[in-house]
Amino acid sequence: MTDKLQKAAVIGWPISHSLSPTIHTHWMKLFGIDGTYEKVAVGPEAIANLLDQFKTEGYVGFNVTVPHKLDIMQHLDKIAPLARQMGAVNTVKIAPDGTMTGFNTDGIGLVTNLKKTVPGWPKDKPVLILGAGGAARAAALGLLTEEVPLVMITNRTRAKAQAIADEIGRGRMTVVDWDDRADAVAAAGLIVNTTVLGMKGQPALEMDLSKAAPDTVVYDIVYQPLMTPLLKDAEARGLRIVTGLGMLVYQAAAAFKIWFGIDVEYDDALRTELEGQFQ
Ligand code: ATR
Repeated sequence: MTDKLQKAAVIGWPISHSLSPTIHTHWMKLFGIDGTYEKVAVGPEAIANLLDQFKTEGYVGFNVTVPHKLDIMQHLDKIAPLARQMGAVNTVKIAPDGTMTGFNTDGIGLVTNLKKTVPGWPKDKPVLILGAGGAARAAALGLLTEEVPLVMITNRTRAKAQAIADEIGRGRMTVVDWDDRADAVAAAGLIVNTTVLGMKGQPALEMDLSKAAPDTVVYDIVYQPLMTPLLKDAEARGLRIVTGLGMLVYQAAAAFKIWFGIDVEYDDALRTELEGQFQ
């Protein structure tokens, strides 16, 4: 590590509620990296100038969040294969010569959180993904690399689920009609909610878990609140659950590794710090 100030950032609009600075500065301090990680609120029209500024000022990289994950790609020199498959970038590395490479760590973040929380998750059974936005695509790509036998995807707008299955499924994804989702639960070893339902200010997700096998794992990527109605229901039924905050932390861990080459963990101090922001 050089003694130069290591600068990184997250860009988006809005950005004020981002937890990424808390996460990255925690690890910077832990590993003695003299660095900063700022939140930059930026609209699409100002991105090109901002990236020039990052290059000039020697930033190591930055994270990208809503609404720039797709549009950022046109400004980059290289896109890693997984990000290309995802059609979205959440992490950019800036090499010392200014070359910018786009990555997507959302899928790996989702899967790492799952493995750390429930090491014995039933990966020999099909997965059921609810939703068909960017998060669903990341979940599907991440879980397909885990060699699950089948990924079932269901979405209110069926065509969007079909498009994901066609583009990335390679014969290992099937679409379930939204109205039939309660039946698909019976076969699923893992159920992942990637819709916005259950988030603060949104309606609860209506999901009948009565057909779930006892070893089913229920994962909600919504983390505000941490215990969504879906997770409360799953827990009350004795099912194993995975909360969504860890996905955010582990996608950040993968970004940290890309920038600094260091493996980091979701340690107890970070957990306390993050969960404290929800009280
Ligand atoms: P992201 O890219 O972050 O995953 P998104 O593209 O806005 O977010 O996707 C939101 C998901 O929540 C979609 O799957 C959406 O379903 P549609 O594709 O039918 O819009 C789902 N969603 C949002 N509101 C919903 C509702 N009231 N009932 C069912 N699904 C809903």
